[in-house]
Amino acid sequence: MTAAQNSPVFTVRPVTEADEKEVAGVITAAFNQPVEAKLVHNLRHCGALLVELVAQGDDGRILGHVAFSRVTGAGAGHRLQISCLAPVSVLPEVQKLGIGSALITAGLEELRSQGEDLVLVLGPPAYYPRFGFDAGLAKQVQAPYAGAAFMALALTDAGRTQLPVEVSFATPFQEFE
Ligand SMILES: CC(C)(COP(=O)(O)OP(=O)(O)OC[C@H]1O[C@@H](n2cnc3c(N)ncnc32)[C@H](O)[C@@H]1OP(=O)(O)O)[C@@H](O)C(=O)NCCC(=O)NCCS
Repeated sequence: MTAAQNSPVFTVRPVTEADEKEVAGVITAAFNQPVEAKLVHNLRHCGALLVELVAQGDDGRILGHVAFSRVTGAGAGHRLQISCLAPVSVLPEVQKLGIGSALITAGLEELRSQGEDLVLVLGPPAYYPRFGFDAGLAKQVQAPYAGAAFMALALTDAGRTQLPVEVSFATPFQEFE
C-alpha cells in the first residue's frame, strides 16, 4: 500500500519483535507522552493484541503504528468476536498525509479476514466515521465508555444484529484509565 502523490512512500506491514523500541518512540512522539506506548507494551505482552501494524517509509523509518486488541462480550452478543482499535499513532512531522488512514483501513481488512464481527473505538468523532465507525451503533454496546467519541463498526451481519452486548476491555486499559 502506498500513499498519495506528494506524500511519503510507505508500506503497511505487521509489526515484528525488532520494531518494538522504534514503535514505542513513534507512539510517544504522536501523543507527546509515554502513557500510550506503555499501554501498547502491556497489551502486547499480555497477549491481547489481535492485529498490530506499522507504516514503514521507503527509507526504512517507522512512520506510524496501529493496534487492535481483544474485547470480551457478554449478553445477547456474547458469541461475537469483538475487538478495539487503540491506539493509532503517526509521527507528528508526517501527520495528515494518509498514513493513519492506511493503517486503520489495512487493520480493518485484516480483522475482517480473521472473522471479527465488531470493532470499537474511542476517539475523535470527526475522524473515525470516515472508516464506517458509528456512535449510534455503539449505543448498543455497554462499556465503561459512552458518548459521541465511543463508536462501533460492524464487519459482519452478526456484528450489527446480535446486540446489545456488554463488553470488557483487556486489563491494560483498566490500568490506563
Ligand atoms: C490521529 C492520527 C493517527 C491520524 O493519522 P494521520 O496520518 O495524521 O491522518 P490521515 O492523513 O489518515 O487523515 C487526515 C485527516 O484526519 C483528520 N484528523 C487527524 N487527526 C484528527 C483528530 N485528532 N481529530 C479529528 N480529525 C483528525 C485530519 O484533519 C484530516 O482530515 P481531512 O481528511 O478531512 O483533511 C494522527 O494524527 C496522530 O497520530 N495523532 C496523535 C495521536 C492521536 O490522537 N491518535 C488518535 C487518538 S486514538
